[in-house]
Amino acid sequence: MTARHVNVFYGANQAIADVSIDVRRDEVTAFIGPSGCGKSTFLRTLNRMNDTVAAARVEGEIRLDGADIYARDMDVVQLRARVGMVFQKPNPFPKSIYENVAYGPRIHGLAKGKADLDRIVEEALSRAGLWSEVKDRLGTSGTALSGGQQQRLCIARAIAVEPEVILMDEPCSALDPIATARIEELIHELRGRYAIVIVTHNMQQAARVSQKTAFFHLGRLIEYADTSDIFTNPREERTKDYITGRYG
Ligand SMILES: Nc1ncnc2c1ncn2[C@@H]1O[C@H](COP(=O)(O)OP(=O)(O)OP(=O)(O)O)[C@@H](O)[C@H]1O
Ligand SMILES: [Mg+2]
Repeated sequence: MTARHVNVFYGANQAIADVSIDVRRDEVTAFIGPSGCGKSTFLRTLNRMNDTVAAARVEGEIRLDGADIYARDMDVVQLRARVGMVFQKPNPFPKSIYENVAYGPRIHGLAKGKADLDRIVEEALSRAGLWSEVKDRLGTSGTALSGGQQQRLCIARAIAVEPEVILMDEPCSALDPIATARIEELIHELRGRYAIVIVTHNMQQAARVSQKTAFFHLGRLIEYADTSDIFTNPREERTKDYITGRYG
């Protein structure tokens, strides 16, 4: 995905100012920066989740495989399947584990019948590292799983529709260290297949899971570089102050 000169306003308040960035397949990009700097706002521009916020207005250009995602003829339901999202708080549907994963492929017509749908569900749950834990209780409610399992279910739900990009907004902040480690492992495994963007307040996590890091401050993209450079040799004073814990 390519974003060029993106501005986002909530009413009269500008939350994102002139952000340009590329997000590539085979790479995990971490968005870091102090609370309120616009990370979630910018992340949501990448699959038009801001459309659901009445006060939000987006300017600039964002392209997915060259196509303008804000074009009039862009199918937003299709876009959100191609650019999936995982939220801070796991949000499975109040339906069975199976249905949580099957729902997307079914509405997008990806399955050629029941056996094919079963296969898609199993594959997505396997890739999300959840299959062995849930294969004997696919009919129980997704909301009855532990927090970490629910988050992996939400990841399975996102990947079941074969997205190109996965956006994750602090996906581990409600999880314990063991569940967090599982999600981080999963991000490593998924990287080869999708472009992944993760918002995180955890600097160690950004360093562990990402290849590229973008540092935001007051709605601006201050620095974007290889993660190793950001954490060992940042160009900008503000980046250095943030990663060394001087503010934020
Ligand atoms: N729905 C909204 N309506 C109005 N203003 C909003 C809305 N969502 C966010 N904002 C404002 O936009 C700015 C950026 O918020 P955003 O949630 O993107 O920050 P963030 O970097 O994700 O912060 P955090 O790390 O706390 O999640 C803030 O000033 C916030 O108050
Ligand atoms: Mg946020």
